[in-house]
Amino acid sequence: MSPSDPAPVFESLSRLSEDAILGVMAKFRADPSPLKIDLGVGVYRDAEGHTPVLDCVRVAERRILDAQVTKSYVAPAGREEFNAAVVELVLGREHRAVLDRRVIAVQTPGGCGALRVGAELLRAAAAGTSIHVSDPTWANHLPLLGGAGLRLQRYPYYDATAHRLTFDAMLERLERAPAGDVVLLHACCHNPTGADLDDAQWRTIADLLSRRGLLPYLDLAYQGFGGGLDADAQGIRLIASRVPECLIATSFSKNLGLYRERVGALLAVAASEERAAAIRSHVLQIARSIYSMPPDHGAAIAAEILTDPALRGTWVAELGTMRERVRAMRRLLADALRRGGGGRAYDYLEHQRGMFSLLGAPPAVVERLREEFHVYMTADGRMNLAGLMPSNVDPLAHAILQATR
Ligand code: LMR
Repeated sequence: MSPSDPAPVFESLSRLSEDAILGVMAKFRADPSPLKIDLGVGVYRDAEGHTPVLDCVRVAERRILDAQVTKSYVAPAGREEFNAAVVELVLGREHRAVLDRRVIAVQTPGGCGALRVGAELLRAAAAGTSIHVSDPTWANHLPLLGGAGLRLQRYPYYDATAHRLTFDAMLERLERAPAGDVVLLHACCHNPTGADLDDAQWRTIADLLSRRGLLPYLDLAYQGFGGGLDADAQGIRLIASRVPECLIATSFSKNLGLYRERVGALLAVAASEERAAAIRSHVLQIARSIYSMPPDHGAAIAAEILTDPALRGTWVAELGTMRERVRAMRRLLADALRRGGGGRAYDYLEHQRGMFSLLGAPPAVVERLREEFHVYMTADGRMNLAGLMPSNVDPLAHAILQATR
């Protein structure tokens, strides 16, 4: 290179630190210890530690491969039978907004794709919009939403030391948000806390959003892992019946175990059928400009399962098994911690829902758990309890009690 040559373009890029969640996955893989326990990335594991391919998925996939005659393009909106089935799964067939034809759905590459497309839509509708996210929230919400140019604000949600929601503080903060701001809510199985709003709290929030003119953006990544498919959508259904418009990002990574297939959808509830069509046209243009079209295979599997009553029945049963196993692991761990001398301090693990709970310990304890006990969780102390097996509950309880002593 001569002195007059310009500096290479990528010279300005220094190496970034690892992703808060995926970095833990890499560290766990690199640990040769046979004793290691993975409570890092949010994937479900069975009692043997495997992330299974569900039976309903195997059957649907075989059918699709046997019947497939082309690999030609589908469309920027993905499969329409998938989109229609998702609307029914999330909102129910009889929801007022569905009957009024005010709902659109567009298939996306996973829930992340949905969240980002929704954020781009918000920017297209109102540049500089503020979005209020819970403190704490899923680490990837910040780049997904902030990267689209939305201004991120936080509302208090959870006290990690007391292991309880800070609902009054949440209300107080959202009361002060200007009309037109967006509020991101976790529809169920809050990530990372496992602490969800109860029915009365959903009603209070729905009132507040409608009275203050705030736009709800609901993230539904764990439908079926909390109380069941319908139970986990109640908050969304209520909100969608109380406000003129809202966005919903949904994912089939966890509830169908289709992690690597990238299957999700962005739903928009609009004030009118005409507005819904306008929103859809923008969503399609955004999709076209980012990835053109979503991958098809996983959505074809999901559509087959959602629309075939027998396969759907198998899925509901398999999802119930996954949900109950995580609940059982929560109980076993809380029990082991009580027996080990932790008293009632860990009772919250039993009452929270979905894959995650926060240990509520400082980063030094998380580091000690990793270095000394080969227990892997994210730096904020988030534990993926769906990664626990009966065989490692006692060692984990022992490690937690030692490290937090
Ligand atoms: C998680 O929270 O661990 C999962 O949703 C996986 C991810 O992409 O972060």
